[in-house]
Amino acid sequence: MRMSVVGTGYLGATHAACMAALGHDVIGIDTDPAKVAALSSGTVPFWEPGLDTVLQDSLRSGRLHFTTDVTEATDAAVHFICVGTPQRSDSPAADLTHVHGAVSALLPILTPESLVVGKSTVPVGTAAEIADHVAATGARVAWNPEFLREGHAVDDTLHPDRLVFGVRDAISEATLCEVYATLLADGTPLLVTDFATAELVKVSANAFLATKISFINAMAEVCEATGGDILTLSTALGLDPRIGPQFLRAGLGFGGGCLPKDIRAFMARAGELGVDEALMFLRNIDDINIRRRQHTVDLTIEALNGSARGRRVAAWGAAFKPDSDDVRDSPALHVAAALREAGADVVVHDPRAMDNARRLFPDLSYAASALDAARDADVVLLLTEWRDYNELDPAEVAAVTRQASLIDARNALDVDRWRSAGWTYRALGRPLA
Ligand code: UDX
Repeated sequence: MRMSVVGTGYLGATHAACMAALGHDVIGIDTDPAKVAALSSGTVPFWEPGLDTVLQDSLRSGRLHFTTDVTEATDAAVHFICVGTPQRSDSPAADLTHVHGAVSALLPILTPESLVVGKSTVPVGTAAEIADHVAATGARVAWNPEFLREGHAVDDTLHPDRLVFGVRDAISEATLCEVYATLLADGTPLLVTDFATAELVKVSANAFLATKISFINAMAEVCEATGGDILTLSTALGLDPRIGPQFLRAGLGFGGGCLPKDIRAFMARAGELGVDEALMFLRNIDDINIRRRQHTVDLTIEALNGSARGRRVAAWGAAFKPDSDDVRDSPALHVAAALREAGADVVVHDPRAMDNARRLFPDLSYAASALDAARDADVVLLLTEWRDYNELDPAEVAAVTRQASLIDARNALDVDRWRSAGWTYRALGRPLA
C-alpha cells in the first residue's frame, strides 16, 4: 500500500521504516529539513537500538522516502499522523498545534479515497474533531494508538501486544486490516472500537503504568520511614500473578516525553469533561513521582553533611531511562540541575544522551566517561540505570573520588559489591546498611 507518515520523530521515523519493512510504499513527511536529510541518508537523528538497520534496509529497498513536501504524498491511500503532542507551556493540557498543523497540511491532497489515521497521543475527542475538519474532502478518519516504548520501538512496532482501531465505518477497518495484514497473520490481538475508546486506551494505559510506578515509590517512602526494604517488598508483590513484577522498579520515578505529560493532559481533559474527580488520584501519582526527585536531592545534601555549596557531585545518567538518548523531563537531569542550583559542581556522564543534555543544561559540566565524572567527587549518584554502570569496578572508582559515597537512585547496582569495596551506599527505599 502507498502511505504517508506525517511527523518523523521517535514515533513517526520508527513507524515509517517499519511500515516499509512490512512491504508498504512509504513517504515520511516532516517540516524539519535537517531531519528529512538525516533520515534520507540512513541516519537516525536519535538513539534507538536497531532502527538504523531497518531504516537503511527500507531505504535500499526503494520503498521508503522522506520529504518536506506534502504534495509528494498525493497518491497515498493512508496518511498516518505521528506528530508530537507535548505539554502546553501555559497549562497541563496537551498542545495540539502539531496535530492540527499536520491535518491542515494534508487537506489539499485528501480525497474521498483517503484514510487519515491518528497515532499521536491525544485528548479524547480529538479524532472526532479531525473528522469534522476533513469532512469536506470526503476523507475517512481512524484512530490507531501506538504503544511503543523508546529503546524497544522497532520490536514494539513489528510485534505489538495488540492493535487497536478506532473507526466509524467498515471501509476504514478493512483498510487498516490491509495495512497490518502481516501482524494480524502473526496472531496479534485486534480490538476494533469507536474513536473515544481508542483514544482512551492509550492515555489510560500510560496512566496505569504511571500509577504502578508511583505506587511502588510510595511504598519506598514508607520503607524509608520504617527500615523496610523496597526490593524484597516489590519482589514479593510481583510474585502475585494478579499484580505482576513489571513496572514495580522503585527509584527516581518516571520521566520522558510520554508518561508525565500524558497523565497531566488526561487530568486536564477530564476537567473539561466534568469528570475531574475520577482522575483526581493522578495528581497524587504525579506528586509522588516528583517527590522522589526532591528526596534524591535531599539525600545527596545529607551525604554532603548539609550543604552542596562548592562540593563535587558525579551524576551518572542523563537520559530519562537507559537505551535512550531522550532527556525530555528526565528525572536524572532534574536532580543534577537542582544540585547545581544548590551550589554543587555537578559533573554528568551518560553513554548516549550527552549532546541532548548539554543542549538543555549548558550550565552543568560533562565528562567523557563515568570514571572521569567521578574524579574528585564528594558523592556519586546513579540516576539512570545504564548497564554500563554495573560493569564498573567499585575499587577503581573509589580510587579517583574524594569520598567513596554513592546514592543509587535506581536500585540498579550490586549493593554488596560496592559496600565490600568500602563504599557508603545508600539506595532509595532500602535500609542504610
Ligand atoms: C511509555 C509507555 O511504556 C509506552 O507504552 C508509551 O507508548 C509511551 O510511554 P517510554 O516513555 O518509552 O514508554 O518508557 P517506559 O519504558 O514506559 O518508562 C517510562 C518511565 O518510567 C521511565 O522514566 C522509566 O525509568 C520509569 N520506570 C519504568 C520506573 O521508574 N520504574 C519501572 O518499574 C518502570
